[in-house]
Amino acid sequence: MTTAAPAVKPVLFMLTALEQGDIDAATAVLRSGMLRSASQCAALELKFAELSGARHAMTCANGTCALQLAYEPLFEPGDEVLVPAWSYIATASMLVARGCKPIFVDAIEGTGQIDLADAARRVTPRTRGIAATHMYGCPVDIGATQALAAKHGLRVVYDAAQAHLSTYNGKGIGEFGDAVTYSFYATKNLGTGEGGLISCNDDKLARDIQLLRSHGETEKYLHERVGYNYRMNDITGAIGLSRLGRLPRETKARQEAAVRYGEILAKVPGFVPLKITAGATSAYHLYTVRLDLGVLKTTREQVMKDLGALGVPTALHYPRSLPQQPAFARFLEGQGAWPVAERLARTVMSLPMHHGLTEEHFATIEHGVRAVASRYGG
Ligand SMILES: Cc1ncc(COP(=O)(O)O)c(C=O)c1O
Repeated sequence: MTTAAPAVKPVLFMLTALEQGDIDAATAVLRSGMLRSASQCAALELKFAELSGARHAMTCANGTCALQLAYEPLFEPGDEVLVPAWSYIATASMLVARGCKPIFVDAIEGTGQIDLADAARRVTPRTRGIAATHMYGCPVDIGATQALAAKHGLRVVYDAAQAHLSTYNGKGIGEFGDAVTYSFYATKNLGTGEGGLISCNDDKLARDIQLLRSHGETEKYLHERVGYNYRMNDITGAIGLSRLGRLPRETKARQEAAVRYGEILAKVPGFVPLKITAGATSAYHLYTVRLDLGVLKTTREQVMKDLGALGVPTALHYPRSLPQQPAFARFLEGQGAWPVAERLARTVMSLPMHHGLTEEHFATIEHGVRAVASRYGG
């Protein structure tokens, strides 16, 4: 008689649970009856600005609104804006919403970040900006981005939806560029359900964004310009403020988990971790590897299936590059090719990453990746 192997307890892919303090903070707002954007959103803005190195921080409804609020004062319809071919759709789709033409830039294979050399080749007399995503939580080469922007007089927006509290050259990412945008979507490092924030260092731009966020209203029922209602509410603000208090500690735990992954994967052929940009620290929203399918003689789907069976959940970020999205087909003519982004779409895979990973979890992960690698010739 054979005895079945004990079922492995699967590792959580991400950890989104609120803590009692978050719930208490939200409950206090509910009890107060002050549900609109008020003291909690204001306190979240102050603390976020301080922690990220920005002068102004403005909460809003989500990370997509944050991009829209940053783009509208900085870009005009018809502008060409350089944007990564390797990002989440919103970075580019909100340029389209502004009437801009997204000019897709290929990625660096080793890091998954925007390739500034490719960006430089795509500059034309109509180029007005760069919208660069700090992918997976890791800042792009901000030095090269700002140098390219300075050379051509471009505006820069950094999409930091995945990169809360990451740093570049020892400084908070809020110090760089014209504006930085964040998402507080439920699964993000600072998750509030839905939510977002824009930071900037220019007083006039901050005022423009504040007005756009709330119907251009300068005093009650006086509307100086056309805007939106993209405000955050105070329940969300309270959860965000409570979570922000522990975010530095949780970010450190993610960084330590990344070190453990590095140690484990260094000994496993076929699993290649993405590298961190020189001078940067990553917030490790995701821990994404490239599969070397020359070493592992199988498909990515099989690797994911086998890992799942061994208690190691995985996900794809992302299965398509942005130029491969039907939504952008009408912009691609004459733009050339994005071979690296397309290769990343075929080869990347994300492993579990959160602040609660323990040695027990890493034992499951190590066993899983080693078993799969040896099964397929790695
Ligand atoms: C890089 C990037 N940009 C923008 C967004 C949009 O944020 P939200 O979902 O809060 O609208 C996300 C969220 O997934 C993202 O990952």
